[in-house]
Amino acid sequence: MQRVLFVSPGYPSEMPRFVRGLAEIGAEVLGVGDQPPALLAEDVRRSLSGYLRVRSLWEEEAVVRAVATWLGDRSVDRVECLWEPAMILAAQIREAVGAPGLSVERTIPFRNKERMKQALDAAGIRTPRHAAARGAAEVREAAERIGFPIIVKPIAGAGSADTYRVESMRELETVEPRVEHLDEVSVEEFVDGEEYTFDTIAVAGVPVFHNVAWYRPRPLVARSNEWISPQVVALRDPDQACLAGGVAMGRAVLAALGFESGFTHMEWYLKADGEVVFGEIGGRPPGAHQVDQMNFSCDIDVFRGWAEAVCFGRFTHEVHRLFNVANVYKRAQGQGSIERVEGLERFRQRHRDALVWENLLPVGARRRNWRQTLVSDGFVVVRHPDLEATLAIADEFGSEVRLFAN
Ligand SMILES: Nc1ncnc2c1ncn2[C@@H]1O[C@H](COP(=O)(O)OP(=O)(O)O)[C@@H](O)[C@H]1O
Ligand SMILES: [Mg+2]
Repeated sequence: MQRVLFVSPGYPSEMPRFVRGLAEIGAEVLGVGDQPPALLAEDVRRSLSGYLRVRSLWEEEAVVRAVATWLGDRSVDRVECLWEPAMILAAQIREAVGAPGLSVERTIPFRNKERMKQALDAAGIRTPRHAAARGAAEVREAAERIGFPIIVKPIAGAGSADTYRVESMRELETVEPRVEHLDEVSVEEFVDGEEYTFDTIAVAGVPVFHNVAWYRPRPLVARSNEWISPQVVALRDPDQACLAGGVAMGRAVLAALGFESGFTHMEWYLKADGEVVFGEIGGRPPGAHQVDQMNFSCDIDVFRGWAEAVCFGRFTHEVHRLFNVANVYKRAQGQGSIERVEGLERFRQRHRDALVWENLLPVGARRRNWRQTLVSDGFVVVRHPDLEATLAIADEFGSEVRLFAN
């Protein structure tokens, strides 16, 4: 039996599904997290053989020591973490308990966007021209060298937070105060194009399952315009010719970074002239229910598939891609709590077969912060074998269904 130490089994909200996947394939799962055990969902508690509550996951040294003491002479076969900010901690635990998997040194390029691009440059992979910069003078110098337009963003950010497209030196002056609170930023050539993911479950660095999703529109645009209902569309045919450059890059990136076994989530850009440019990669799955989306695309259980891959080095689900699947996230109009919903009944009636999950905030619920969570005020998942039809249904939800808050 495999004994797996799982960092933060209860948070974020998708972690319980992975924990359950591990339990279902027969692994013994030990959890470590900073949530009180009483706050863990019922099915997480049932899936865990033990849980160590620590004061804070960010006191890394203390956590590593506490875990070692707690384990005593029990050995662990895997240390798993699918939450980006705790990945270095997981690597430290791995090193301390002698478990296989990514070391701290191997994890850093999955977190630090400069180290990531340096490693990929060395492997000949096309990254945006880039520089790391501390302070206004270094940012300006980087901008001059790279050439406008540029992107200025956190060196280890997420969710497009504190990310700015800057057209000129003059505009840079207005952005400087807004990034002042960041110790270090990544300055990049702005790459114009469509934006896709390349997501994998890998075993020993080689994908055993992969998924390509298309962002509509690009995440930075979606995060800058509240009226947009952003879409992430898992493509039924990730192996079509026009995506081949991104898929090949994705495989090369895993090899260049020495990834081992687990989930990966890469983003890449496809320019109008066909050039493929690397975006970023995380050693974890995408969020915002995009793993569920993979399940809806193939009617398999990707959570369990992941568990099998990390524990036994295999992926036994047969993958038949049946559908394009769109997650469409909704932002209400107005502030406060959801007051009414318009157009939903008609949408349900028109797309009964395509609509596989409806998860909008109910009337009376307080609005979520749409800048902090892509999930925003809820979402629907729609699917169809044909891509054009999928996009049309997703667009219809975006424009015809409206939530109003007050
Ligand atoms: N060099 C770039 N060129 C064009 N757009 C970019 C660039 N870097 C970031 N962006 C935009 O900002 C978004 C967030 O940047 P990303 O590097 O993916 O960080 P995060 O970890 O916040 O997702 C991207 O999805 C893309 O839309
Ligand atoms: Mg990103």
